[in-house]
Amino acid sequence: MISLNQNLLLGVPLLDSEHQELADVINTIAAEASNHSMTQEMPSPACCRRVGNLLQDLSQLSAQHFATEERMMEESCYPNLLEHRQEHRLMMAELKALIRALCSGRECLTSRDLTSLKGWFIGHLATDDKPFAQYLLAQGLHQGFWPMRPALAI
Ligand SMILES: [Fe+2]
Repeated sequence: MISLNQNLLLGVPLLDSEHQELADVINTIAAEASNHSMTQEMPSPACCRRVGNLLQDLSQLSAQHFATEERMMEESCYPNLLEHRQEHRLMMAELKALIRALCSGRECLTSRDLTSLKGWFIGHLATDDKPFAQYLLAQGLHQGFWPMRPALAI
Protein backbone atom coordinates (compact mmCIF):
# COMPACT_ATOMS: atom_id res chain seq x y z
CA MET A 1 0.00 0.00 0.00
CA ILE A 2 1.45 3.34 -1.04
CA SER A 3 0.70 6.28 1.21
CA LEU A 4 1.98 9.70 0.39
CA ASN A 5 3.78 10.46 3.64
CA GLN A 6 6.15 13.32 4.42
CA ASN A 7 8.83 11.82 2.20
CA LEU A 8 6.60 11.58 -0.83
CA LEU A 9 4.58 14.78 -0.47
CA LEU A 10 6.36 17.46 -2.47
CA GLY A 11 4.65 20.63 -1.26
CA VAL A 12 3.33 21.51 -4.72
CA PRO A 13 -0.47 21.10 -4.49
CA LEU A 14 -1.09 20.18 -8.13
CA LEU A 15 1.69 17.56 -8.17
CA ASP A 16 0.67 16.14 -4.81
CA SER A 17 -2.97 15.72 -5.81
CA GLU A 18 -2.10 14.06 -9.12
CA HIS A 19 0.41 11.77 -7.40
CA GLN A 20 -2.30 10.81 -4.92
CA GLU A 21 -4.58 9.80 -7.82
CA LEU A 22 -1.82 7.62 -9.29
CA ALA A 23 -1.10 6.05 -5.88
CA ASP A 24 -4.83 5.29 -5.48
CA VAL A 25 -4.93 3.38 -8.79
CA ILE A 26 -1.76 1.44 -7.91
CA ASN A 27 -3.25 0.57 -4.50
CA THR A 28 -6.44 -0.65 -6.19
CA ILE A 29 -4.36 -2.80 -8.55
CA ALA A 30 -2.45 -4.24 -5.58
CA ALA A 31 -5.69 -5.01 -3.72
CA GLU A 32 -7.21 -6.66 -6.80
CA ALA A 33 -4.11 -8.75 -7.45
CA SER A 34 -3.78 -9.81 -3.81
CA ASN A 35 -7.37 -11.08 -3.70
CA HIS A 36 -6.44 -14.22 -5.59
CA SER A 37 -3.02 -14.72 -4.03
CA MET A 38 -4.54 -14.62 -0.52
CA THR A 39 -7.04 -17.29 -1.39
CA GLN A 40 -4.29 -19.36 -3.04
CA GLU A 41 -6.44 -19.69 -6.12
CA MET A 42 -5.28 -19.37 -9.65
CA PRO A 43 -6.15 -15.93 -10.93
CA SER A 44 -9.33 -16.00 -12.93
CA PRO A 45 -9.52 -14.53 -16.42
CA ALA A 46 -11.95 -11.96 -14.97
CA CYS A 47 -9.35 -10.90 -12.40
CA CYS A 48 -6.72 -10.51 -15.11
CA ARG A 49 -9.14 -8.46 -17.16
CA ARG A 50 -9.85 -6.17 -14.20
CA VAL A 51 -6.14 -5.76 -13.48
CA GLY A 52 -5.51 -5.12 -17.19
CA ASN A 53 -8.22 -2.45 -17.25
CA LEU A 54 -6.80 -0.81 -14.12
CA LEU A 55 -3.34 -0.78 -15.70
CA GLN A 56 -4.86 0.91 -18.75
CA ASP A 57 -6.38 3.52 -16.41
CA LEU A 58 -2.97 3.96 -14.80
CA SER A 59 -1.37 4.38 -18.21
CA GLN A 60 -3.89 7.04 -19.26
CA LEU A 61 -3.62 8.90 -15.97
CA SER A 62 0.19 8.74 -16.07
CA ALA A 63 0.29 10.14 -19.61
CA GLN A 64 -1.92 13.07 -18.53
CA HIS A 65 0.12 13.64 -15.39
CA PHE A 66 3.44 13.56 -17.23
CA ALA A 67 2.09 16.07 -19.75
CA THR A 68 1.06 18.36 -16.87
CA GLU A 69 4.50 18.10 -15.28
CA GLU A 70 6.29 18.74 -18.57
CA ARG A 71 4.14 21.79 -19.24
CA MET A 72 4.98 23.10 -15.77
CA MET A 73 8.67 22.47 -16.47
CA GLU A 74 8.51 24.35 -19.76
CA GLU A 75 6.70 27.28 -18.25
CA SER A 76 9.02 27.50 -15.26
CA CYS A 77 12.14 27.07 -17.46
CA TYR A 78 13.22 23.99 -15.48
CA PRO A 79 16.79 23.17 -16.54
CA ASN A 80 16.38 19.35 -16.36
CA LEU A 81 13.30 19.18 -18.55
CA LEU A 82 14.86 17.02 -21.28
CA GLU A 83 16.18 14.36 -18.89
CA HIS A 84 12.93 14.30 -16.98
CA ARG A 85 10.88 13.97 -20.17
CA GLN A 86 13.10 11.10 -21.27
CA GLU A 87 12.46 9.38 -17.95
CA HIS A 88 8.70 9.78 -18.45
CA ARG A 89 9.00 8.13 -21.89
CA LEU A 90 10.88 5.19 -20.42
CA MET A 91 8.25 4.82 -17.71
CA MET A 92 5.42 4.81 -20.24
CA ALA A 93 7.27 2.18 -22.29
CA GLU A 94 7.67 -0.01 -19.18
CA LEU A 95 3.99 0.30 -18.33
CA LYS A 96 2.91 -0.52 -21.88
CA ALA A 97 5.21 -3.56 -21.91
CA LEU A 98 3.54 -4.83 -18.73
CA ILE A 99 0.07 -4.29 -20.23
CA ARG A 100 1.12 -6.07 -23.44
CA ALA A 101 2.43 -9.03 -21.42
CA LEU A 102 -0.87 -9.31 -19.55
CA CYS A 103 -2.90 -8.99 -22.73
CA SER A 104 -0.87 -11.74 -24.37
CA GLY A 105 -2.42 -14.16 -21.90
CA ARG A 106 0.42 -14.83 -19.52
CA GLU A 107 -0.34 -15.25 -15.83
CA CYS A 108 -1.96 -12.44 -13.92
CA LEU A 109 0.11 -9.78 -12.23
CA THR A 110 2.80 -11.37 -10.05
CA SER A 111 4.03 -10.04 -6.72
CA ARG A 112 7.27 -9.16 -8.51
CA ASP A 113 5.30 -7.08 -11.02
CA LEU A 114 3.59 -5.31 -8.13
CA THR A 115 6.86 -4.56 -6.37
CA SER A 116 8.31 -3.12 -9.55
CA LEU A 117 5.14 -1.11 -10.20
CA LYS A 118 5.40 0.47 -6.75
CA GLY A 119 9.11 1.09 -7.31
CA TRP A 120 8.27 2.55 -10.73
CA PHE A 121 6.12 5.19 -9.04
CA ILE A 122 7.98 5.86 -5.78
CA GLY A 123 11.43 5.79 -7.40
CA HIS A 124 10.50 8.42 -9.96
CA LEU A 125 8.77 10.58 -7.39
CA ALA A 126 11.71 10.55 -4.98
CA THR A 127 14.48 10.78 -7.59
CA ASP A 128 13.06 12.99 -10.33
CA ASP A 129 9.93 14.79 -9.15
CA LYS A 130 11.35 15.89 -5.81
CA PRO A 131 14.14 18.00 -7.34
CA PHE A 132 11.59 19.59 -9.68
CA ALA A 133 9.33 20.42 -6.73
CA GLN A 134 12.29 21.88 -4.84
CA TYR A 135 13.07 24.02 -7.87
CA LEU A 136 9.47 25.32 -7.94
CA LEU A 137 9.52 25.95 -4.19
CA ALA A 138 12.80 27.85 -4.45
CA GLN A 139 11.31 30.06 -7.17
CA GLY A 140 8.05 30.57 -5.29
CA LEU A 141 6.16 28.90 -8.14
CA HIS A 142 4.63 26.01 -6.24
CA GLN A 143 1.31 27.70 -5.55
CA GLY A 144 -1.15 29.17 -7.93
CA PHE A 145 -2.70 28.02 -11.09
CA TRP A 146 -1.16 26.56 -14.17
CA PRO A 147 -0.57 27.38 -16.92
CA MET A 148 1.34 30.47 -15.87
CA ARG A 149 1.06 32.01 -19.33
CA PRO A 150 -1.84 34.41 -19.53
CA ALA A 151 -4.54 33.44 -21.96
CA LEU A 152 -4.26 35.15 -25.30
CA ALA A 153 -6.59 38.08 -25.67
CA ILE A 154 -8.93 37.62 -28.58
FE1 LIG B 1 7.88 13.26 -13.29
